[in-house]
Amino acid sequence: MTERVFIEHISEHVEETVTIKGWIYSKTGKGKLQFILVRDGTGLLQCVVFQKAVTPEVFEAAKSLTQESSLIVTGKVRADERAPGGFELDVTDLQVVQIAAEYPITPKEHGIEFLMDHRHLWLRSSRQHAILRVRAEVIRAVRDWLDDHGFLNLDTPILTPAACEGTTTLFETDFFGEPAYLSQSGQLYNEANIMAFSRVYCFGPTFRAEKSKTRRHLLEFWMVEPEMAFADLDECMRVEEELVSYVVQRCLKNRSRELETLERDTSYLENIVPPFPRISYDEAIEMLKAKGVPAEWGDDFGAPQETALGEAFDKPVFVHRYPSAIKAFYMEADPTDPSRSLSVDLIAAEGYGEIIGGGQRTASLELLEQRIKEHNLPRESYEWYLDLRRYGSVPHSGFGLGIERTVAWICKIDHVRETIPFPRVLNRLYP
Ligand code: 4AD
Ligand code: MG
Repeated sequence: MTERVFIEHISEHVEETVTIKGWIYSKTGKGKLQFILVRDGTGLLQCVVFQKAVTPEVFEAAKSLTQESSLIVTGKVRADERAPGGFELDVTDLQVVQIAAEYPITPKEHGIEFLMDHRHLWLRSSRQHAILRVRAEVIRAVRDWLDDHGFLNLDTPILTPAACEGTTTLFETDFFGEPAYLSQSGQLYNEANIMAFSRVYCFGPTFRAEKSKTRRHLLEFWMVEPEMAFADLDECMRVEEELVSYVVQRCLKNRSRELETLERDTSYLENIVPPFPRISYDEAIEMLKAKGVPAEWGDDFGAPQETALGEAFDKPVFVHRYPSAIKAFYMEADPTDPSRSLSVDLIAAEGYGEIIGGGQRTASLELLEQRIKEHNLPRESYEWYLDLRRYGSVPHSGFGLGIERTVAWICKIDHVRETIPFPRVLNRLYP
């Protein structure tokens, strides 16, 4: 028995005989030679089957392989500059696990609906592989940074009695005769958790019944939400820029091959280090007007405004102090001008728009009660949240980073649907 190795570690096994377990990515045959490109979930390896080096049965088996057939292949690892990835396997033995039926996804172009219908198979392509490995790195980097900076991971419920981000995008479900809503954000529970643990984060799926069909909206997405007691808006921005920079640098370090597969310009990413530029909402409105992008004080930003703002900087830009009227009920009022909120969005360059939303939370019981009324929220569902202002209220801040938008930005891909294994978008629940 030879050792089973994964292709991502193949460089450690040059001149050794190893076994690879995987699937056929593609195959070309020329008489006595069969070149099979094998993928094993960690990479691609060209395997060369030379008729004279194997038994007739093995050679016939190699010839019978179709795209996506599963196999176990043994051979000697050889360094070869010309081979994809720099290594080849000289096959000595090969065992077919299953001969795949005619595979629906071929190298020719497919329409997006076809690919979405076959998402369960589309995942096997090199491009999807690269994107989803970046995603995993982003998630690990986020957790590592927060764990190393004193944030305790405390997850928050998915089934909730009340809205966090407005009642228009709630997914309602039946909780034994009572309505329950799929969580839009763990923030309100994070606020309870920080009064017990000081710095926490939750990380989980969040849901928004958004009727918008854009390149940045999913109905189900993953969000990491750090929250900090005794932290103001400035500290919130500092933590955001440190975290985002760390995540980008980790991807450059550990996922360079994947970024290369995606043809990502990495010089842009190398420049993502603190500090990020900071502008107020008022300054943003002036900038937009100067650029001829429609914007009136009091408007919320949509894609054209965010794209224009993002393009003006070579790093993500913080836009802070939006009008209170266009932000969520929990935002702290700016003490110098209560019509402004101590909110901040982080807008990524290259048209990716908002990747983080957050800010300082209302510490005052009276203001919070007033906001709940103004937003027509059912007060009884928020009594527990009001308690947090009755018993040891402190200035506190936090934010939510959308994993899919961050991955789309780092990978520079067009649409967030490719940044999650099984995207949930408008009018699609299959597969
Ligand atoms: O700005 P949002 O709605 O903020 C909150 O939910 C806060 N409660 C977070 C907090 O302060 N703890 O969402 C935060 C981020 C956005 O910046 C975006 O990256 C992502 O979540 N996001 C979405 N991603 C994909 N599809 C959607 N429909 C998204 N909605 C928000
Ligand atoms: Mg937002």
